[in-house]
Amino acid sequence: MQRNKIGIDRDLCNGCGLCTTVCPTGTISLSDGKAEVSGGDCISCGHCAAVCPQEAIRVTVIDDEMSQYKTFIAEKQWLPPGKHGISGLVQLMASRRSCRCFTDKPVDRSILEDLMKIGITAPSGTNSQAWTFTILPSRKAVTSFAGQIATYFGKLNTTAEKTMLRLFLKLIGKGELDDYYHSYYRKIKAALEEWHGAGKDRLFHNSTAAIIVGSKPGASCPAEDALLAAQNILLAAHSMGLGSCLIGYAVAAMKKDPSIQQAIGISSEEEIHAVIALGYSDEAYQRIAGRRKVIPKYWEG
Ligand SMILES: Cc1cc2nc3c(=O)[nH]c(=O)nc-3n(C[C@H](O)[C@H](O)[C@H](O)COP(=O)(O)O)c2cc1C
Repeated sequence: MQRNKIGIDRDLCNGCGLCTTVCPTGTISLSDGKAEVSGGDCISCGHCAAVCPQEAIRVTVIDDEMSQYKTFIAEKQWLPPGKHGISGLVQLMASRRSCRCFTDKPVDRSILEDLMKIGITAPSGTNSQAWTFTILPSRKAVTSFAGQIATYFGKLNTTAEKTMLRLFLKLIGKGELDDYYHSYYRKIKAALEEWHGAGKDRLFHNSTAAIIVGSKPGASCPAEDALLAAQNILLAAHSMGLGSCLIGYAVAAMKKDPSIQQAIGISSEEEIHAVIALGYSDEAYQRIAGRRKVIPKYWEG
C-alpha cells in the first residue's frame, strides 16, 4: 500500500538520504545506496518529494492542480524560514476584519475555488486532509441558506419562550436552553423580526457568497483542521480584495439540526465546523483595530 503512495525513481536517486530524515513516519530508508519505501505508515505529507534534490520522488495522491490558482500567479519556490517579511504578514493579519456590510457585487467562482485551494495549504492532524468545502456562490444561495438558519432559530426562540420548560430542564441539569434564553434570545428575536420584516440579513450581513468548511469521518482533529483552513481563507480573502466573516450562528444551527446540511446537499456523514461569509466589503477603516491585553505565562522547566 505504501509503495502505491510513493514512487521513487532509483535511477535519479543519488542516495543522499534527505528523504529519510524528513519523513515523519519512517516510511523511507536507504538500501544499497538508494532510497526505498520500506515500511512505516506513510501519511502522504510530501516532505520526501519536496526535499529531494534529484526530483526522484513522487507522492501519487498529491494533486498538482490543487496548487494551481486561476486568479493569480503563485510563487512556486519554497520560502525558507526567515525569508518572508514579517511586517507585511502581520499587517495583513491585523488588517483583516470581520465584515458585516457587503456590497451586492458577486464573487467569481474562480476566486472562491482559489480560496478553497489556499485553505488546504493549512496543516491537518496526521495529514488527514479530511476537510470538505461547500461553496455557496451567489446571494441567492446564501439567502436560501440563511432562511433555513432563520427557521431553526425561530423554532428555538419559540421553545425558549416556554419559561416552565426552561426551568424544568435547568432543574434536571440541562441548563442549555435557559442559558440561550438569557444570552441570545432577545438578539435573535430582533434579528428575525428584521429578516422577516425588512428582509435585513443580520446573519450573513448581505454577503454574496459563503464557504462552508466541514470534515469527512476519520480525521484525527477535524475541527482544528477545518478552522486552520478557514483562517487561511479569511486572510487570503482580505489579500484578494474580499471581506469575510465567520458565521458561528450558522455552525451552531447546523450542528443542532442535521436537516439544514442535508437541504444544501451536504451528506450527513460530514461534520460542519466553519461557515465563512464572503463578498466585497462596503467598510473602510482608518486604522488597525487592536486587541485586549494578553499576558503570557512562562514555565521554565
Ligand atoms: C468561531 C467564530 C464565530 C463567529 N461568529 C460570528 C457570527 O455568527 N456573526 C458575526 O457577525 N461575527 C462572528 N464572528 C466574528 C467575531 O465577532 C469577530 O472575529 C470578533 O468580533 C473580532 O473582530 P475581527 O474579526 O474583525 O478581528 C465569529 C468569530 C469566530 C472566531
